Amino acid sequence: MLEERMNRKVLCIVSDDTQAQLLRQALIAWDVRSVSNFDDAQRELSDERYIVGLFVHDRRLGMSADIKTFLITNHTVEWVGVYAEAHLNKDGSQELISEHLYDYHTLPIDPVRLTYTLGHAYGRAQLYRALPQATAGRGMSAILGHSAAITRLRDHIGRAARVTAPVLIWGESGTGKELAAQAIHLKSSRVGQPFVPINCGAIAPSLIQSELFGYERGAFTGATRDKVGLIESANGGTLFLDEIGDLPNELQANLLRFLQEKTITRLGSTCAVPVDVRVIAASHVKLEQAVAKGMFRQDLYYRLSVLPLTVPALRERGDDLTLLAEHFFVTYASDKAFRLKGYSEAALKAIAEHDWPGNVRELINRVRRALVMAEGRLIRPEDLGFLSPAALTHEAELDETRLRAEQQALRECLERSSRNVSLAARRLGVSRTTMYRLLSKHNLHAAGRERPKLRQSAADEEANY
Ligand SMILES: Nc1ncnc2c1ncn2[C@@H]1O[C@H](COP(=O)(O)OP(=O)(O)OP(=O)(O)O)[C@@H](O)[C@H]1O
Ligand SMILES: [Mg+2]
Repeated sequence: MLEERMNRKVLCIVSDDTQAQLLRQALIAWDVRSVSNFDDAQRELSDERYIVGLFVHDRRLGMSADIKTFLITNHTVEWVGVYAEAHLNKDGSQELISEHLYDYHTLPIDPVRLTYTLGHAYGRAQLYRALPQATAGRGMSAILGHSAAITRLRDHIGRAARVTAPVLIWGESGTGKELAAQAIHLKSSRVGQPFVPINCGAIAPSLIQSELFGYERGAFTGATRDKVGLIESANGGTLFLDEIGDLPNELQANLLRFLQEKTITRLGSTCAVPVDVRVIAASHVKLEQAVAKGMFRQDLYYRLSVLPLTVPALRERGDDLTLLAEHFFVTYASDKAFRLKGYSEAALKAIAEHDWPGNVRELINRVRRALVMAEGRLIRPEDLGFLSPAALTHEAELDETRLRAEQQALRECLERSSRNVSLAARRLGVSRTTMYRLLSKHNLHAAGRERPKLRQSAADEEANY
């Protein structure tokens, strides 16, 4: 039994040598392998298989966004985070802990508790492994719904999962494009390997090249060590290129080369490295139109769209609306909402009649809002942010007011978030992509952030969202 425990490996990411030493002493029954940063951890994970990992949070490891990317890439490992008490409320730590970690501890390390937690994490990881689809499915939700449109989508996903050809997903904002990409990955033979999502519209154009392809030490000022690019980190798995229409022109050529040759060359290197990834791209704008306008390379479009897939708008999914509304009610109902029993008839009617321009993401946001706003036992239409029919007669006035209110909310939230777009987006409960579209629509700018002007049609689509 002891021998079996001695064989349990844990990957510890800890930038401080003294803490690393303390961890080795604390985890006496474990085979502790420590590295000091996420790049080394990524290398270690591509060489060896771990099912349990631990990191001691430290600013030197990177920002929450870097940690999140790393955790998503390596979601098949059960992660335990160790935080200084003071850092628990900062920089998105809470979201990271609740969505991506098995558990967390605070400093100073308590050897007994930590050993216990890791043991549990190890046991759970083994249990998941025994269930073929479960491990890789953690953190990813199932596509719910029985409508004809969703049944058809599920069928297409199943077919796409059987082959490795590139997939191009189109769907309006918030329809579930990323969910569809995850589903293809989970059903494919690549399940258990990394699923690496990249939002081409959210990375600063000046950084995309190095983020995607990585760099060698000395490639440019500030490149003090080698960095594995996102494409390389998806080796063996699936690369999800979200909002591919936002990829700058010069990068389109590099991506095309990668798709043709299946190799990448890190910045500052002359050596091409073979990479085996399945590419799934997504866009909320019709790429054919971007091609026709000369904004997207036709050759890249043909490479990417071998298997085109459309995610239906929520308004095309019939009865699924109620099912999804109930599902999100249960998902987000917290202790505070214990008195709430569900939706009133009027609320269900309003849900059925609404056009849902922001699709499933809008539904989630409205349900979350209702859980906070509702005062009685049943959710009313106004809790969901729907206006009474009388008010709707003044539609033009309403649009104007809504636009002004939206702009004001954006301005205030940006100010409160020190003009940090990620933070502001989180506070407003929208994705960063949506946040950028809103900023562009209202001609607002976040500080220190270069951003190509987004197409007006994208903003228009979300005008009421
Ligand atoms: N059929 C579904 N069942 C359950 N959840 C869903 C379904 N469709 C979408 N969702 C949820 O809706 C949210 C939005 O989905 P997702 O991020 O995949 O959409 P998207 O099309 O990529 O959106 P965006 O255009 O904003 O990037 C996610 O929380 C996702 O889990
Ligand atoms: Mg998306």
